[in-house]
Amino acid sequence: MAHNLLKGKKGIIFGALDEKSIAWRTALRCVEEGAEIVLTNAPIALRMGEINKLAETCKAPVIPADVTNMDDLANLFNKSMEHFGGKIDFVLHSVAMGMNIRKGRSYTDLDYDFNHKTFDISAMSLHRVLQTAYKLDALNEWASVIALSYIAAQRVFPDYGEMADAKALLESIARSFGYHYGTAKKVRVNTISQSPVKTTAGGGVKGFDGFMTYADAMSPLGNATADECANYAVAMFSDLTKMVTMQNLFHDGGFSFTGVSKPVIDQMEK
Ligand SMILES: NC(=O)c1ccc[n+]([C@@H]2O[C@H](COP(=O)([O-])OP(=O)(O)OC[C@H]3O[C@@H](n4cnc5c(N)ncnc54)[C@H](O)[C@@H]3O)[C@@H](O)[C@H]2O)c1
Repeated sequence: MAHNLLKGKKGIIFGALDEKSIAWRTALRCVEEGAEIVLTNAPIALRMGEINKLAETCKAPVIPADVTNMDDLANLFNKSMEHFGGKIDFVLHSVAMGMNIRKGRSYTDLDYDFNHKTFDISAMSLHRVLQTAYKLDALNEWASVIALSYIAAQRVFPDYGEMADAKALLESIARSFGYHYGTAKKVRVNTISQSPVKTTAGGGVKGFDGFMTYADAMSPLGNATADECANYAVAMFSDLTKMVTMQNLFHDGGFSFTGVSKPVIDQMEK
Protein backbone atom coordinates (compact mmCIF):
# COMPACT_ATOMS: atom_id res chain seq x y z
CA MET A 1 0.00 0.00 0.00
CA ALA A 2 1.38 3.41 -0.97
CA HIS A 3 1.32 6.45 1.34
CA ASN A 4 2.98 9.07 -0.89
CA LEU A 5 5.86 9.16 1.60
CA LEU A 6 8.31 10.24 -1.10
CA LYS A 7 6.04 12.51 -3.14
CA GLY A 8 8.14 15.13 -4.93
CA LYS A 9 11.45 13.52 -3.92
CA LYS A 10 14.20 12.65 -6.37
CA GLY A 11 16.71 9.88 -5.83
CA ILE A 12 19.57 7.84 -7.27
CA ILE A 13 19.50 4.06 -6.83
CA PHE A 14 22.79 2.16 -7.18
CA GLY A 15 22.94 -1.63 -7.59
CA ALA A 16 19.77 -3.05 -9.22
CA LEU A 17 21.12 -6.10 -11.06
CA ASP A 18 18.03 -8.31 -11.34
CA GLU A 19 14.63 -8.53 -9.72
CA LYS A 20 16.04 -10.20 -6.60
CA SER A 21 18.40 -7.26 -5.89
CA ILE A 22 17.62 -5.23 -2.79
CA ALA A 23 18.08 -2.12 -4.98
CA TRP A 24 15.53 -3.40 -7.50
CA ARG A 25 12.91 -3.95 -4.77
CA THR A 26 13.71 -0.52 -3.29
CA ALA A 27 13.46 1.24 -6.67
CA LEU A 28 9.93 -0.15 -7.14
CA ARG A 29 8.83 0.92 -3.65
CA CYS A 30 10.32 4.42 -3.99
CA VAL A 31 8.39 5.00 -7.22
CA GLU A 32 5.21 3.58 -5.64
CA GLU A 33 5.66 6.16 -2.88
CA GLY A 34 5.78 9.01 -5.40
CA ALA A 35 9.54 9.46 -5.97
CA GLU A 36 11.28 10.04 -9.28
CA ILE A 37 14.49 8.05 -9.64
CA VAL A 38 17.63 7.58 -11.70
CA LEU A 39 19.02 4.04 -11.88
CA THR A 40 22.73 3.31 -12.07
CA ASN A 41 25.02 0.30 -12.16
CA ALA A 42 28.48 -0.67 -13.43
CA PRO A 43 28.69 -0.65 -17.26
CA ILE A 44 29.42 -4.39 -17.23
CA ALA A 45 26.24 -5.11 -15.20
CA LEU A 46 24.17 -2.97 -17.57
CA ARG A 47 25.20 -5.19 -20.45
CA MET A 48 22.98 -7.94 -18.99
CA GLY A 49 20.10 -5.69 -20.01
CA GLU A 50 17.81 -6.73 -17.11
CA ILE A 51 17.77 -3.22 -15.68
CA ASN A 52 15.93 -1.89 -18.76
CA LYS A 53 12.78 -3.71 -17.59
CA LEU A 54 12.98 -1.92 -14.24
CA ALA A 55 13.75 1.40 -15.95
CA GLU A 56 10.62 1.04 -18.05
CA THR A 57 8.40 0.25 -15.05
CA CYS A 58 9.90 3.11 -13.03
CA LYS A 59 10.09 5.53 -15.98
CA ALA A 60 13.68 6.11 -14.95
CA PRO A 61 16.79 6.84 -17.00
CA VAL A 62 19.75 4.50 -16.56
CA ILE A 63 23.12 6.24 -16.20
CA PRO A 64 26.16 3.92 -16.08
CA ALA A 65 28.74 4.44 -13.33
CA ASP A 66 31.46 2.24 -11.94
CA VAL A 67 31.54 3.23 -8.25
CA THR A 68 35.34 3.13 -8.25
CA ASN A 69 35.59 5.76 -11.02
CA MET A 70 35.35 9.42 -9.96
CA ASP A 71 34.62 10.69 -13.50
CA ASP A 72 31.70 8.24 -13.79
CA LEU A 73 30.33 9.43 -10.44
CA ALA A 74 30.61 13.13 -11.32
CA ASN A 75 28.89 12.44 -14.64
CA LEU A 76 26.14 10.50 -12.83
CA PHE A 77 25.38 13.32 -10.36
CA ASN A 78 25.58 16.04 -13.04
CA LYS A 79 23.33 14.15 -15.46
CA SER A 80 20.88 13.28 -12.66
CA MET A 81 20.57 16.95 -11.62
CA GLU A 82 20.03 17.87 -15.27
CA HIS A 83 17.35 15.21 -15.58
CA PHE A 84 15.55 16.24 -12.38
CA GLY A 85 16.05 19.96 -13.00
CA GLY A 86 17.41 20.30 -9.47
CA LYS A 87 19.20 18.63 -6.58
CA ILE A 88 18.75 15.14 -5.18
CA ASP A 89 16.85 14.06 -2.03
CA PHE A 90 18.00 10.48 -1.51
CA VAL A 91 20.66 7.99 -2.56
CA LEU A 92 20.66 4.20 -2.12
CA HIS A 93 24.15 2.64 -2.16
CA SER A 94 23.41 -1.07 -2.67
CA VAL A 95 26.76 -2.20 -4.04
CA ALA A 96 29.23 -4.89 -3.02
CA MET A 97 31.72 -7.30 -4.51
CA GLY A 98 33.85 -9.76 -2.53
CA MET A 99 36.66 -10.53 -4.95
CA ASN A 100 38.47 -13.10 -2.80
CA ILE A 101 35.20 -14.87 -1.96
CA ARG A 102 34.38 -14.96 -5.66
CA LYS A 103 37.74 -16.53 -6.42
CA GLY A 104 37.29 -19.08 -3.62
CA ARG A 105 40.04 -17.65 -1.40
CA SER A 106 39.63 -17.96 2.35
CA TYR A 107 40.25 -15.19 4.92
CA THR A 108 43.67 -16.64 5.78
CA ASP A 109 44.77 -16.73 2.13
CA LEU A 110 43.80 -13.33 0.73
CA ASP A 111 45.10 -11.96 -2.53
CA TYR A 112 45.72 -8.28 -1.72
CA ASP A 113 44.99 -6.97 -5.21
CA PHE A 114 41.55 -8.55 -4.92
CA ASN A 115 41.34 -7.29 -1.34
CA HIS A 116 41.96 -3.67 -2.46
CA LYS A 117 39.30 -4.04 -5.11
CA THR A 118 36.82 -5.47 -2.61
CA PHE A 119 37.34 -2.55 -0.23
CA ASP A 120 37.13 -0.02 -3.06
CA ILE A 121 33.89 -1.38 -4.56
CA SER A 122 32.18 -2.32 -1.30
CA ALA A 123 33.24 0.44 1.13
CA MET A 124 35.41 3.28 -0.22
CA SER A 125 32.80 3.71 -2.93
CA LEU A 126 30.43 5.17 -0.30
CA HIS A 127 33.04 7.82 0.44
CA ARG A 128 33.51 8.41 -3.30
CA VAL A 129 29.74 8.84 -3.78
CA LEU A 130 29.41 11.18 -0.80
CA GLN A 131 32.47 13.23 -1.68
CA THR A 132 31.27 13.63 -5.28
CA ALA A 133 27.83 14.79 -4.11
CA TYR A 134 29.42 17.09 -1.49
CA LYS A 135 31.77 18.81 -3.94
CA LEU A 136 29.05 19.24 -6.57
CA ASP A 137 26.60 20.36 -3.87
CA ALA A 138 24.22 17.84 -5.43
CA LEU A 139 22.08 16.99 -2.39
CA ASN A 140 19.22 19.05 -0.93
CA GLU A 141 19.13 19.88 2.78
CA TRP A 142 17.74 16.90 4.76
CA ALA A 143 18.64 14.52 1.92
CA SER A 144 19.06 10.92 3.09
CA VAL A 145 21.81 8.51 2.01
CA ILE A 146 21.54 4.80 2.84
CA ALA A 147 24.13 2.08 2.31
CA LEU A 148 23.55 -1.61 2.97
CA SER A 149 25.58 -3.47 5.55
CA TYR A 150 25.72 -6.80 7.33
CA ILE A 151 26.25 -7.82 10.97
CA ALA A 152 29.58 -9.45 10.11
CA ALA A 153 30.91 -5.91 10.68
CA GLN A 154 30.42 -6.55 14.43
CA ARG A 155 30.46 -10.34 14.86
CA VAL A 156 32.39 -13.13 13.17
CA PHE A 157 30.77 -15.14 10.38
CA PRO A 158 33.75 -17.15 9.07
CA ASP A 159 32.64 -17.58 5.45
CA TYR A 160 31.88 -13.87 5.01
CA GLY A 161 35.68 -13.41 4.78
CA GLU A 162 37.08 -10.02 3.79
CA MET A 163 33.55 -8.64 3.31
CA ALA A 164 33.33 -8.36 7.13
CA ASP A 165 36.18 -5.84 7.06
CA ALA A 166 34.62 -4.04 4.09
CA LYS A 167 31.32 -3.66 5.96
CA ALA A 168 33.10 -2.38 9.10
CA LEU A 169 34.75 0.29 6.92
CA LEU A 170 31.46 1.07 5.18
CA GLU A 171 29.72 1.68 8.52
CA SER A 172 32.60 3.85 9.71
CA ILE A 173 32.44 5.98 6.55
CA ALA A 174 28.69 6.47 7.06
CA ARG A 175 29.38 7.76 10.60
CA SER A 176 32.33 9.97 9.66
CA PHE A 177 30.85 11.50 6.51
CA GLY A 178 27.50 11.71 8.28
CA TYR A 179 29.11 14.11 10.76
CA HIS A 180 30.60 16.36 8.07
CA TYR A 181 27.58 16.33 5.74
CA GLY A 182 25.24 16.84 8.69
CA THR A 183 27.01 19.92 10.00
CA ALA A 184 27.57 21.42 6.53
CA LYS A 185 24.27 20.68 4.79
CA LYS A 186 21.92 18.78 7.14
CA VAL A 187 22.34 15.69 4.97
CA ARG A 188 21.96 12.40 6.81
CA VAL A 189 23.93 9.21 6.21
CA ASN A 190 23.06 5.78 7.64
CA THR A 191 23.62 2.09 6.99
CA ILE A 192 20.93 -0.59 7.15
CA SER A 193 22.26 -3.91 8.42
CA GLN A 194 20.02 -6.39 6.64
CA SER A 195 19.14 -10.08 7.20
CA PRO A 196 20.53 -12.53 4.62
CA VAL A 197 18.65 -12.49 1.29
CA LYS A 198 19.32 -14.84 -1.61
CA THR A 199 20.60 -12.46 -4.31
CA THR A 200 23.58 -12.64 -6.67
CA ALA A 201 25.87 -10.97 -4.08
CA GLY A 202 24.35 -12.76 -1.05
CA GLY A 203 24.20 -16.22 -2.64
CA GLY A 204 27.95 -16.04 -3.41
CA VAL A 205 28.84 -16.73 0.23
CA LYS A 206 29.68 -20.39 1.01
CA GLY A 207 26.98 -22.30 2.94
CA PHE A 208 24.49 -19.50 2.31
CA ASP A 209 21.30 -21.63 2.37
CA GLY A 210 22.15 -23.30 5.69
CA PHE A 211 23.09 -19.96 7.12
CA MET A 212 19.83 -18.38 6.02
CA THR A 213 17.85 -21.13 7.75
CA TYR A 214 19.94 -20.66 10.89
CA ALA A 215 19.43 -16.85 10.87
CA ASP A 216 15.70 -17.35 10.44
CA ALA A 217 15.58 -19.72 13.42
CA MET A 218 17.65 -17.28 15.51
CA SER A 219 15.48 -14.23 14.76
CA PRO A 220 12.36 -13.71 16.90
CA LEU A 221 10.57 -12.23 13.86
CA GLY A 222 12.34 -14.39 11.25
CA ASN A 223 14.57 -13.07 8.46
CA ALA A 224 13.61 -9.74 6.92
CA THR A 225 12.99 -10.01 3.16
CA ALA A 226 14.28 -7.72 0.40
CA ASP A 227 10.80 -6.16 0.09
CA GLU A 228 10.77 -5.45 3.82
CA CYS A 229 14.22 -3.90 3.47
CA ALA A 230 12.84 -1.73 0.66
CA ASN A 231 10.07 -0.53 3.01
CA TYR A 232 12.63 0.38 5.65
CA ALA A 233 14.71 2.28 3.08
CA VAL A 234 11.59 4.22 2.01
CA ALA A 235 10.97 5.16 5.65
CA MET A 236 14.59 6.30 5.95
CA PHE A 237 14.31 8.42 2.78
CA SER A 238 11.10 10.03 4.02
CA ASP A 239 10.79 13.13 6.21
CA LEU A 240 9.44 10.95 9.05
CA THR A 241 13.01 9.97 10.01
CA LYS A 242 14.63 13.39 9.59
CA MET A 243 16.70 13.34 12.77
CA VAL A 244 18.28 9.90 12.24
CA THR A 245 21.88 10.06 11.05
CA MET A 246 25.29 8.36 11.49
CA GLN A 247 23.59 5.12 12.59
CA ASN A 248 23.95 1.48 11.70
CA LEU A 249 20.32 0.34 11.76
CA PHE A 250 19.67 -3.37 12.21
CA HIS A 251 16.87 -4.66 10.02
CA ASP A 252 17.05 -8.32 10.87
CA GLY A 253 13.97 -9.50 12.80
CA GLY A 254 15.90 -9.22 16.08
CA PHE A 255 18.84 -11.49 15.09
CA SER A 256 21.49 -8.98 16.22
CA PHE A 257 20.35 -8.94 19.86
CA THR A 258 19.41 -12.59 20.27
CA GLY A 259 21.93 -14.75 22.16
CA VAL A 260 20.18 -17.99 21.30
CA SER A 261 16.61 -18.95 20.42
CA LYS A 262 14.44 -21.88 21.48
CA PRO A 263 14.32 -23.42 17.96
CA VAL A 264 18.14 -23.41 17.82
CA ILE A 265 18.47 -25.00 21.29
CA ASP A 266 15.86 -27.63 20.37
CA GLN A 267 17.84 -28.42 17.23
CA MET A 268 21.09 -28.80 19.26
CA GLU A 269 19.43 -31.23 21.67
CA LYS A 270 18.36 -33.63 18.90
N1 LIG B 1 21.91 -10.40 0.08
C1 LIG B 1 22.23 -10.36 1.36
O1 LIG B 1 22.14 -11.37 2.07
C2 LIG B 1 22.67 -9.06 1.99
C3 LIG B 1 22.60 -8.92 3.38
C4 LIG B 1 23.06 -7.72 3.95
C5 LIG B 1 23.57 -6.71 3.13
N2 LIG B 1 23.60 -6.90 1.78
C6 LIG B 1 24.16 -5.84 0.94
O2 LIG B 1 23.15 -5.34 0.07
C7 LIG B 1 23.79 -4.73 -1.04
C8 LIG B 1 23.13 -5.18 -2.33
O3 LIG B 1 23.38 -6.52 -2.57
P1 LIG B 1 22.28 -7.57 -3.10
O4 LIG B 1 22.21 -8.64 -2.07
O5 LIG B 1 21.05 -6.87 -3.52
O6 LIG B 1 23.03 -8.25 -4.36
P2 LIG B 1 23.14 -7.85 -5.91
O7 LIG B 1 24.19 -8.74 -6.45
O8 LIG B 1 21.81 -7.89 -6.54
O9 LIG B 1 23.67 -6.33 -5.88
C9 LIG B 1 25.04 -5.96 -5.84
C10 LIG B 1 25.21 -4.86 -6.87
O10 LIG B 1 26.52 -4.27 -6.84
C11 LIG B 1 26.80 -3.89 -8.18
N3 LIG B 1 28.22 -3.60 -8.38
C12 LIG B 1 29.27 -4.45 -8.23
N4 LIG B 1 30.42 -3.83 -8.58
C13 LIG B 1 30.10 -2.57 -8.94
C14 LIG B 1 30.85 -1.45 -9.39
N5 LIG B 1 32.19 -1.51 -9.55
N6 LIG B 1 30.19 -0.29 -9.69
C15 LIG B 1 28.85 -0.21 -9.55
N7 LIG B 1 28.08 -1.23 -9.10
C16 LIG B 1 28.70 -2.41 -8.81
C17 LIG B 1 26.35 -5.11 -8.97
O11 LIG B 1 26.27 -4.87 -10.37
C18 LIG B 1 25.01 -5.37 -8.32
O12 LIG B 1 23.98 -4.64 -8.96
C19 LIG B 1 25.28 -5.06 -0.93
O13 LIG B 1 25.96 -4.00 -0.28
C20 LIG B 1 25.25 -6.28 -0.02
O14 LIG B 1 26.49 -6.49 0.66
C21 LIG B 1 23.15 -8.05 1.18
